[in-house]
This record gives sequence, C-alpha cells and structure tokens, in this order.
Amino acid sequence: MRYGILSDVHGNLEALEAVLALYQEERIENFFCCGDVVGYGANPKECLEIVRGLRMLCIAGNHDWAVSGRLNPAYFNPVAKEAIYWTQKQLTAEEIGFLNDLQLVDKNDQLILTHGSLNEPESFHYMMYLSHAVETFRLMDRNLCFIGHSHVPQIIIRQKEKIWLSDTLKITMEPGCQYIINVGSVGQPRDGNPMAGYCVYDTKSQGIEIKRITYDIKLAQKKILQAGLPASLAARLSIGH
Ligand SMILES: [Fe+2]
Repeated sequence: MRYGILSDVHGNLEALEAVLALYQEERIENFFCCGDVVGYGANPKECLEIVRGLRMLCIAGNHDWAVSGRLNPAYFNPVAKEAIYWTQKQLTAEEIGFLNDLQLVDKNDQLILTHGSLNEPESFHYMMYLSHAVETFRLMDRNLCFIGHSHVPQIIIRQKEKIWLSDTLKITMEPGCQYIINVGSVGQPRDGNPMAGYCVYDTKSQGIEIKRITYDIKLAQKKILQAGLPASLAARLSIGH
C-alpha cells in the first residue's frame, strides 16, 4: 500500500492541488492529514472539501480548532488571529462542525497521526528539539508517528536509548527502530524552501520520503491579498518562512 501523508495545508488551494497531482502520479492509495487544513490561506472551504472528498484520515490542528471555537484565538499572534476570524466567516456551520469534531490523535495498524506531539496533544507543543521527542516516543504504540505543526520537515529516529535526527528526508524503516516523521507543510513551508511539502510511505518497501513540489505561489498570494487577509501571509510564501 502506498500512503500519502500531508499536513498544514492552511487554505492554500494551489499548493494542495499541486501535491494531489503528484500523489496521482505516485499511485497513492490512501491519504492522511496531520491537521491545519484551514487558517492563513484564501481557500479554506475548497481545501476542506478536497480533504473530506478524499476521505483522508485527518486529525485536528490548532488552527482547525481555533476556527471551530474549540481553542481560544486569543492564544494566537495578531496575524494568525485575523486569519482565524476571516476563515470563520467563510465556512458554513456544517463545515465548522466538521473541524470541531476532529480528534487530536488517530491511528491505523501501522501508524499514528497527531499535529504537534503525543504528550498533551491538546496543548499543541512544537517538537523543536530532540529532547521534545522523548515523550512522544514513549507514548507510541506503533513504530511510526506522523506530525506537522512546525512546518519544517524532519525525521527523528529512536533505537533503544538513542534518539537522533536523520540527515536525509528519505529513509527505509529498520526493525527495532521508532520514527517520528514531520511531513512539513503543504501550504506555508517555513524551512526556507517555498515549495509545497508532502510525504510518501510505501508499506511494502517500508520506505518513507518527504518531497517538494513547485506550485503557483503568485496566484495563492494574489488571492490572499484580494481576500483582505494580512499582506505578510502572502509575502512569506515566496521565501518559505
Ligand atoms: Fe500549521
């Protein structure tokens, strides 16, 4: 089975469509989403419709819950907050209800999905340092956990007491190891690379790869400005930050 795992679409339709076109070429059979479908970008409704249409196993991001009212927008920076309030106005009560019902953690036989970390997932901690991964590894009842939230792709590996950061974003899983895969962001990358990020997991070969694809950034930026969203949200897409 070939799985496509994506995260942090943030209402960026152009980036999502580019990733899905690639997923078609990649013969992806099953889709997973690590949260933040909405917030920041100009097409939250359309992105939500696509994620739901593909029946992705999808968990809650902090922006999804803020838009649904389950998380207090007061905790967000002014730009994020403005985007959250704007997004609320674009969605129907039924769509808001879908976001509200998203769970913090979900899993299948092979993998776990969460937005930030498995410890206190409702607090949406960022996994910025290897020390932050310890608790999540301890709580994993599968060898594989996919996350998003930081918008920076990363693969963290644990073997017994040793935890390290992979120096490549293409790996083959080894028996006896656990893996936390931050798949990066489709719609607002923050690792200095403006290309949309997405992940492919082949259960047969046990291969996992985080890839990048160019998309129509200019169009996504134009729509953000036309919608009256903060200009900084358009500007940052050019630099991937
Ligand atoms: Fe996000």
